[in-house]
Amino acid sequence: DFMHEAMGLSVLERQLKEKLQLNAIMVVPGNSDSHDWVKQEMGKACVTYLKKRIKSAQTVAVTGGTTMAAVAEMMVPLDDGADCLFIPARGGIGEKEENQANTIVAKMARKARGDYRLLYVPDPLSETAYQTIIKEPAVNETLQRVKSASVVLHGIGDAMTMARRRKTPEDVTAQLKENHAVSEAFGYYFDGNGNVVHKVRTIGIQLDDLDSVDQVITVAGGHSKANAIASYFNKGKRDMLITDEAAAEEILKM
Ligand code: F6P
Repeated sequence: DFMHEAMGLSVLERQLKEKLQLNAIMVVPGNSDSHDWVKQEMGKACVTYLKKRIKSAQTVAVTGGTTMAAVAEMMVPLDDGADCLFIPARGGIGEKEENQANTIVAKMARKARGDYRLLYVPDPLSETAYQTIIKEPAVNETLQRVKSASVVLHGIGDAMTMARRRKTPEDVTAQLKENHAVSEAFGYYFDGNGNVVHKVRTIGIQLDDLDSVDQVITVAGGHSKANAIASYFNKGKRDMLITDEAAAEEILKM
């Protein structure tokens, strides 16, 4: 629209789309590091896009974090998405209650008038606990649904910020530094070239599963996440990125 054009956002969008080799992109004005309403604008943009894309009875897998919480906040009834199911993409991942995928999917479902499933698993999981828990019928049923998701909504974080937020043990943090971890998504940590350098063991979507997902929608912004976003998109699945002006401008300087 006119405002969009006037603010030069469509120019930014065109440049960033090319730089990150994305199929689609939306850039909202501002910097979500300094203003919460910018995060809400990204949330609103995500909901608008989802509303256009979603079909009846589809499964939407969602990750945690404050950005996804903002998407939930802005969620509206999805006309064509009647009977859609919201489900956490991965178990746990050590977030505060309000930023956990479980809390977020419940809120999204309520506002979208859809349904939801929860995944209650501690993380990181030990190998033995993992092997046992995936055999639990209730967990297994939910996992099958996660694997058949047609839409994935996820955030990206700065690697060190996420390691701190999750109270990651010191030896793992040291290893992340040594391997130059830059970004984090889905419990995977990536270096500047988008190579996986560490993975939190938990149940749910694994990186390879994304290849068969119809729409992967990434929502991440803020000046502080520019490196992380660029790092993730070196290899990460790219359908739609919703970001903000501050992140976009910073990435274009690289
Ligand atoms: O922990 C879930 C998660 O989606 C991470 O994968 C991601 O790095 C982070 O949250 C993003 O959180 P925020 O939107 O608060 O920056």
